[in-house]
Amino acid sequence: MSGKQTFTMIKPDAVEKNYIGAILKQITEAGFRIKAMKYTKLSTEGAGKFYEVHKERPFYDELVEYMTSGPIVAAILEKDNAVADFRTLIGATNPEEAAEGTIRKLYAESISANAIHGSDSDENAAIEGNFFFSTLERF
Ligand code: CMP
Repeated sequence: MSGKQTFTMIKPDAVEKNYIGAILKQITEAGFRIKAMKYTKLSTEGAGKFYEVHKERPFYDELVEYMTSGPIVAAILEKDNAVADFRTLIGATNPEEAAEGTIRKLYAESISANAIHGSDSDENAAIEGNFFFSTLERF
């Protein structure tokens, strides 16, 4: 059965352009409840660890550099079928391929500066949420 939680980050490009409010509005209006949230900045070490699964990819260094270029908003979101429904809401990784009305179509610049992250599985949602939040930070 699909899980009830996913993990997201509003990425540096979207924070820089002041889209935090608009993106959170779209997320909450789509029925997601905020279980945990913080405004923070990844260190190079932290981003390297978070994206370790992509270590062998050609875009890894660019990704780490980009994700440490400014603050982000990290959050755990709750909803039935959270992982799949959230990926539908944010759209394809490449904003040029994202469906109309999706967060990436509306706010992303490029495949690397693509405005928002969404976990790709229940397992990764748990790992990624645990990376940022203790149990005391969840409500
Ligand atoms: P996300 O799915 O949040 O996490 C992995 C990120 O790697 C992805 O978003 C993109 O921002 C980035 N990414 C994936 N593919 C590429 C690519 N071909 N070139 C640059 N960045 C990429």
